[in-house]
Amino acid sequence: GLPARVRIHEVGARDGLQNEKATVPTDVKAEFVHRLAAAGLDTVEATSFVHPKWVPQLADAEQLFPRLGDIEGVHLPVLVPNERGLDRALDLGARRIAVFGSATESFARRNLNRSVAESLAMFEPVVARAKGAGVHVRGYLSMCFGDPWEGPVPVDQVVGTAKALMDLGCDELSLGDTIGVATPGHVRALLTGLNDQGVGTEAIGVHFHDTYGQALSNTLAALQHGVTTVDASAGGLGGCPYAKSATGNLATEDLVWMLRGLGIETGVDLTALTATSTWLAGHLGRPSPSRTVRALAGT
Ligand code: HMG
Ligand code: MG
Repeated sequence: GLPARVRIHEVGARDGLQNEKATVPTDVKAEFVHRLAAAGLDTVEATSFVHPKWVPQLADAEQLFPRLGDIEGVHLPVLVPNERGLDRALDLGARRIAVFGSATESFARRNLNRSVAESLAMFEPVVARAKGAGVHVRGYLSMCFGDPWEGPVPVDQVVGTAKALMDLGCDELSLGDTIGVATPGHVRALLTGLNDQGVGTEAIGVHFHDTYGQALSNTLAALQHGVTTVDASAGGLGGCPYAKSATGNLATEDLVWMLRGLGIETGVDLTALTATSTWLAGHLGRPSPSRTVRALAGT
């Protein structure tokens, strides 16, 4: 069976924008997050407290985050790689954070300048301190299906790292198909592998990229397995600055279109969301890659 409701974890303002070469003004980012919240998205990932040299686009986190304080009833998680990032986030009153690990050594090195084990050691005090402060913690795991340098990633390897991440005390786990190579059978195999090792489906979210056009099929497979949290990016923005072959995330509009057709509740106003992505595309200077945005906007 399928769930009656899906919680969309909107990542456009973070995962989507982090890869944009031209600096997007803080004003535009603030309006983007406000419009996403107004369109009914109740979890809008806002920015990252990472080293500004690693992700220059999000170097304005200190300016942006305080401008979102008037948004009520909407979770505004932020990415935090280490204690320095946690301090920055807590200073501004963040109530939800996400650490981000990798299932592969190659990506851990490139994204965090650490081995997998060293990154888990880096996250340990972050998660402990966050939980101690009553802050909700999401654990992202990248390269859960394939890796641009290592090829296909074995399910056992992903499950091992996922368990280690959850054992730190994360409240939820997001399975990242960072380069978009997953197919539905692989999704089912990974979810089953996680369940077998005690990671329950209720704690799992899925994070698909649409490189090979499989993001919606993979999402449906995950929903059929019982997953109810799906990451998506307004307008299909995104990629990853440290994984060259990554293209856009699953577009939130494409996801909402499918879920609406299935009678699954999301709380999202598709018209308002499409208008938001069309507006942002104007700022970025190119049309949204989302098929649903193009169809609804008539472009
Ligand atoms: P490092 O160079 O090893 O850092 O980078 P370090 O610990 O050696 O510190 C070096 C200097 O950086 C120090 O300053 C620190 O204070 C400073 P100094 O003492 O030399 O003056 N520093 C910081 N400054 C500000 N904020 C911080 C911070 N940390 C250290 N948080 C580090 C290690 C983790 C910092 C770096 O690798 C980094 O920032 N990486 C972030 C990369 C990133 O954001 N990638 C994109 C997100 S992951 C993703 O998109 C995938 C996902 O969407 C899911 C999917 O699709 O798979 C989540
Ligand atoms: Mg991503």
